[in-house]
Amino acid sequence: MKNTHITIKPKVAFFSTQTYDKTFFEKYNLDFEYQLDFFESQLNEQTVTLINNVDVVCVFVNDIVNAEVIKQLAEQNVKIIALRCAGFNNVDLEEAKKHHIKVCRVPAYSPEAVAEHAMAMILTLNRKTHKAYNRVREQNFSLNGLLGFDLHGKTVGVIGTGNIGKAFAKIVNGFGCKVLAFDLVPDEELEKIGVTYVSLETIFKESDVISLHCPLNEKTKYLINKETISMMKNNVMLINTSRGALIDTSDVIHALKKGKIGYLGIDVYEQEEKLFFKDHSEDIIEDDKIQRLMSFPNVLVTAHQAFFTNEALTQIALVTFNNIESLLTQNDIDNKAALLA
Ligand code: NAI
Repeated sequence: MKNTHITIKPKVAFFSTQTYDKTFFEKYNLDFEYQLDFFESQLNEQTVTLINNVDVVCVFVNDIVNAEVIKQLAEQNVKIIALRCAGFNNVDLEEAKKHHIKVCRVPAYSPEAVAEHAMAMILTLNRKTHKAYNRVREQNFSLNGLLGFDLHGKTVGVIGTGNIGKAFAKIVNGFGCKVLAFDLVPDEELEKIGVTYVSLETIFKESDVISLHCPLNEKTKYLINKETISMMKNNVMLINTSRGALIDTSDVIHALKKGKIGYLGIDVYEQEEKLFFKDHSEDIIEDDKIQRLMSFPNVLVTAHQAFFTNEALTQIALVTFNNIESLLTQNDIDNKAALLA
């Protein structure tokens, strides 16, 4: 479909808006002067009715952009779905194509932000700095229970070496680890610095630490399950900063109970859309799996904060607005990785 050129301030509706989204998008809108509507609610079949005369909807990781929502967006004449994130497993791209709605994303805003958070999780779980912080504030200077291990010389398995996995592999390489990697497409630059591409099975069998950086799709859903866990070393450390459903949470809980998994760091959780990005401190949480996970002393949960740096939020706002501008004016985006449909 040929896009009509829009010269009067297009309207962009943001869903799942947090105060920091508003701050960064308003700041960088000075150059674009779009009309911005901010909704705190997640986009779904009910909340889609909130929009009024909107050209673009801007969504985040837990917004539900399924066929029904897209149909309603098409009825409201929405032209663009702009994801302000990299992952797009929550959008029905085929349905968007059917309705001639363009879909764009921010393919790489700060891979280092996520890679550095994965490393922070490893160091925290290993050296228990979160416990040490609380202890010394209570004048408890004992070291009992804080014993860690040298990361230097350990084998780290990286699954998915795209933008984030590559940045992460470089970091662990710098720590003196032996780095094993699995990806559908090996990265030559990583091979040159000594990263070895191996089979998934070898990663599971030989790694002391496994970090997930592949996207969520039909092939990777529940990649970590009771069978793959059984191949792993006893006391393995597992880190997931990618998407919750890469892990079968029940199987991981079982392996934590048995001591097979020695450490778990997750920034993402399969049922996170009901919990993350909100303050539930006064609520009764009905999700027993997350409650069980949080009860283990060797589990660290962060609430999808790996991307959350000043540099990343700046890039997200700039790239999102540039994507929208390109689509509204040329019906295309120069950066092909940003255009999904
Ligand atoms: P990317 O697209 O640059 O890299 C993904 C890599 O995974 C590619 O090299 C691809 O070939 C590989 N891959 C695809 N299927 C695979 C499979 N079956 N097994 C192994 N590797 C496979 O994506 P990027 O930017 O590195 O992001 C990775 C993921 O991180 C995203 O899909 C997203 O889910 C997650 N993410 C999480 C954030 C957070 O705040 N926690 C922030 C940004 C992204």
